[in-house]
Order: sequence, then structure tokens, then C-alpha cells
Amino acid sequence: MQRIQDLPAEELKKLYDAELARYDGFVSAGLSINMARGTPCPEQLDLSEELLDIDMSPLHQCEDGDVRNYGILSGIPECRRLFAELCGVGPDNVIIGGCSSLQLMYDYVSQCVTKGPGVPGCAPWGEQNGVKFIAVVPGYDRHFGICEYLGIELVNVPITPEGPDMDAVEELIKDPSVKGMLCVPKYSNPDGVTYSAETVERLAKMTPAAPDFRVIWDNAYCVHDLYGDGDELPNILDVAAKYGHEDNFVVFVSTSKISFPGAGVSAVAGSDANIRSILGRMKYQIISYDKINQLRHVIFFRNLDGITAHMKRHAEILRPKFETVLGTLDRELTWTGAAHWIKPRGGYFISLYVDVGSASRVGELCKKAGLTITRVGATYPYGKDPDDANIRIAPSYPDCDTLKTAAELMCCCVRIAACEELLARV
Ligand SMILES: Cc1ncc(COP(=O)(O)O)c(C=O)c1O
Repeated sequence: MQRIQDLPAEELKKLYDAELARYDGFVSAGLSINMARGTPCPEQLDLSEELLDIDMSPLHQCEDGDVRNYGILSGIPECRRLFAELCGVGPDNVIIGGCSSLQLMYDYVSQCVTKGPGVPGCAPWGEQNGVKFIAVVPGYDRHFGICEYLGIELVNVPITPEGPDMDAVEELIKDPSVKGMLCVPKYSNPDGVTYSAETVERLAKMTPAAPDFRVIWDNAYCVHDLYGDGDELPNILDVAAKYGHEDNFVVFVSTSKISFPGAGVSAVAGSDANIRSILGRMKYQIISYDKINQLRHVIFFRNLDGITAHMKRHAEILRPKFETVLGTLDRELTWTGAAHWIKPRGGYFISLYVDVGSASRVGELCKKAGLTITRVGATYPYGKDPDDANIRIAPSYPDCDTLKTAAELMCCCVRIAACEELLARV
């Protein structure tokens, strides 16, 4: 079939009319579908139901004392060992947090703004002028939100199939006001890209002009493989240590999409100096996080093998959902040449790129027909996609039949927007 842009005007008009008629069908169906956020579906949550059945009443004691009481700021030893395995570090290099890694990230960046990351001779970021962060785009809106809220300017660096465009990163870090970078190194949100070994090596090797430079290494999707053993991501702290740069990276993880997003366990891992500096702030912030939940998670998962086996069950639920959407995109959009997308091998999202200037129109059409997608623009700092081209699809929550309808509707909207664009030029 000819690409939409190569269709003769008459054929283009015919296609447009046919898609409008199809669109009317979707509108009159009165749909109400939400694909805005990467929320696990009830069947996924059910996989961890037994966590709630564990009778904690006889299980008060962890290796360091009574989990019901105050104390053990850095987390119970058993839980530190579990997350140490997950992060590939020693237990002393992990601190267990509350239910959200985003909160740990916010707290860390906020600490750097008010006190600095603990590098001797460097003023807190908040006392330095025009502090900037590198935002790998498209990216995670809540990461951008942290920087926007704390007054850190964001500079876009595009993602490639290998990770961030490293030539651009290496150029930007020559500027001493560039203090850090936000990364989702495995199955990035939303593109599903895993950083290649070469990218990780280049990141580890870089010597930024700012001595107080920090990379927020948000490994939110470290065990979220859809296929087999999944993508390989080198351990950033090990690679960085080869260059003496382990202080430049702070690693964040959580069980939000392993157990429960509202009641999981989070952790931060890093070098000895960074762990000291974080605990030095945390001691003013909290006496201890929820150690009963930490112990409950240890009893349920036991070790990394337990987590890996559990994630295979998540993958069995998620894989058909991703394949439903991807199959529809393949069938309906490949021939049109009006969009392209990446087939992720893990994570929570599919990133769709439509013709430059038409993503907002697609979003508007979807909304009118009852399909809520992530707000167009949200995958870029300040909510502004300079190309107006990226659409994040979150297929985890709806069931497969609903996803098929949603994906067909979205494809219909993409075709309408593409036709409109071309007809305006005829
Ligand atoms: C990249 C990324 N980091 C962090 C989070 C939030 O993690 P948490 O629930 O641990 O705060 C999400 C949630 O979608 C995410 O996509």
C-alpha cells in the first residue's frame, strides 16, 4: 500500500472520509478508557495478595530488633540485603525508604539544593546561580516536576536506541552550572530503551566540569522484563568505580510495580560517601520507615530469585497487552508512514511518534472519543514537546479487548490527523 503522503488527492480525501466515519462510530460507542498512567492492573496486584495474608503478629523481631518500634533508620538488615542483591551492591550501600522511590529522589535533589551533595568546597546548588539538569527526552514527567519545583532548569538531550545522545551529554557537562542528569537506564519511560554497555561506559567515564555533579539513576524497571531474561544493563556503580566516579551516581529502585504501588518498599543505593550524606540528612527527617512492611516483603520475596520468579508472572499478564497494542499499530499504521514506534522488551510504556505537529490533534481526537492518554507534551520538561510528536501509551491497566479498541481508536485518530495535515496543503 502507498504511504498516506504519497496518496493522490482523491484517494486521500476518500481515506479521510472513511476514517471520519469510523471515528464517529467510536464516539457513538460512548467509550471511557484510561491509558494515561503506568498503573498495574488488578490481576497484577493479586499476584502479591499473599503479602497481605502473612501473619506479622508473631514476627516482631528482625536481626536488629523489634520492627514495630522506632529505630533502624537505614532499614532492617534483611531488607537491605534483599535490595543490595537487586541493585548489585553491598548491604551497607543501600538505604531502605518508604513506599516511593520518587520521594527518595525528591528528597535527594532537595538536599542537594539546600545543603549540596556533600562535596567539600561546593556551595549548595540553591546558592549557586542558574543550576541546570540534563533531561533525557522524552522522559518521565514526575522527574521533570522535581526539578521544575526546585528551580532547576532542564536542558533536553534526546534519547537514541542506545540511551541518551552521549555526544550532546559530553558537550553539556563542560558547563559547570550543569549539575546533574535524570536517567531511567532500563526500559526507559516512555521509550523502553535500555542503555547500551557503551553508553553506560561513557556515562561512567565522564568528568563533568561541576565537581558536585550527580546522576539520578532511576532503575524503576530493573526487573520488569517482558521477554525471557530481558535486557542486560551494566551495574553503573561498578563501572563508575573503575574511573573513581562512583560518587557521581545515585541509584533508586522500588517494589511499586513488583508488589504494590501504594504499599511497597523503596531504596536508594550509592557510594559510601553518598550513603553517609543521605543518612546525615534523613536522621533529621524521620526516625524510621515502615519496618513491618520491609520484613513482610523479605518474607514474601526472600531473595532476588524470588523477585525474578514473581516478575515472570507479571510479564505473563503484561505481554499480551503490549502485543495487542503493538499488533494494532503494526496493522493499522505501518503502511501509512504517518507514525513510528519502538517495540519495548520491558517496562510499562509504548512510545508512539506521529508526524511533527500532530500529536496534540491526536490527543484531542482521542479525548473526544473517550480515550484518556498521557497529556501530550508531558513527556518533555515544562510539558512542551518541541516537535508535538510524542505520545506515551500505557497498556498495563485495561484488559486486552479494551486495549484493542483503544489502539484502533488511536490509529484512527493518527490517520485523521495525518490526512488533515496533508489536505491542508493540497
Ligand atoms: C521511571 C519511574 N520512576 C519512578 C516511578 C515512581 O516510582 P515509585 O512508585 O517508587 O515512587 C515511576 C512510576 O511510574 C516511573 O515510571
